[in-house]
Amino acid sequence: MTIALLFILYALALSAVLSRRGVRTTHEISVGVERPRTRVLIVGATGGTGRQLVTQALERGHVVTAFVRNPSKLQIEHPQLHVVRGDVLDYGSVEQAVSGQDSVICALGHKKYFYPARILSEGTRNLLRAMETHHVPRLVCETSLGIGDSAGRMGLYYTLFVIPAILPFYFWDKTRQESLISASSVEWVIVRPGVLTNGEKRNAYRHGSNLGSFVTSVRISRADVADFMLNQVSSDTYVGAAPGVCW
Ligand SMILES: NC(=O)c1ccc[n+]([C@@H]2O[C@H](COP(=O)([O-])OP(=O)(O)OC[C@H]3O[C@@H](n4cnc5c(N)ncnc54)[C@H](OP(=O)(O)O)[C@@H]3O)[C@@H](O)[C@H]2O)c1
Repeated sequence: MTIALLFILYALALSAVLSRRGVRTTHEISVGVERPRTRVLIVGATGGTGRQLVTQALERGHVVTAFVRNPSKLQIEHPQLHVVRGDVLDYGSVEQAVSGQDSVICALGHKKYFYPARILSEGTRNLLRAMETHHVPRLVCETSLGIGDSAGRMGLYYTLFVIPAILPFYFWDKTRQESLISASSVEWVIVRPGVLTNGEKRNAYRHGSNLGSFVTSVRISRADVADFMLNQVSSDTYVGAAPGVCW
């Protein structure tokens, strides 16, 4: 009983800390400047969201560079697709891939939950450094509901169990990732999805501030997240903001 109470207090304290760190702004600027097709670098291209990003970016007519650790894992071929092998923690490979792009879309993730890895933040630090060096203007980066002013909005199960018991290091790294992005000089959009599914692309989802629920977990497919992220390449609506996205 005492242990359960202590754990709940710890979970609530962690949620409070996550709410103070990370990006707080979710302002929405409705400028909506549309840009023509662009050269996009997709980081995390072999992942769940990343594969959707590559496929949908090609469908939209973008010239796509997929940044991958293992090219044989991608299994997508297209005349407008370039595959570059690299590791986000290796600045040299990041710089080569970033140079000459119009936008970078980051869907990095990993499964090293149980030790304080900094892959998300240090990888993003390398991306930002290369973007600033080579004047690549825009970064669209996937993080998660539950960070900054969306803390608690993954629902009770995540707030009281999944994040404090399994993902505290991971979420801590995500808050560092968001802080680095917001402190950079690039045009950035942080995209915070709810729980991800491999379900179909519905083309109907909600986005903006104050999304998610403090009680139940909201969901969205990786396909719809990719759709929303790709929209951010050509729209200024959420530049400098961290919208949530969910069904
Ligand atoms: N699961 C959820 O319910 C949920 C909810 C909200 C937000 N999110 C977040 O959304 C993001 C995307 O999730 P996902 O499940 O779609 O992705 P994922 O399948 O976990 O894919 C992650 C990608 O990152 C790549 N990667 C990892 N370390 C790398 C490194 N050092 N250098 C280069 N690439 C590296 C992986 O490459 P390899 O293929 O080589 O491993 C993979 O392509 C994650 O940040 C996740 O935390 C997840």
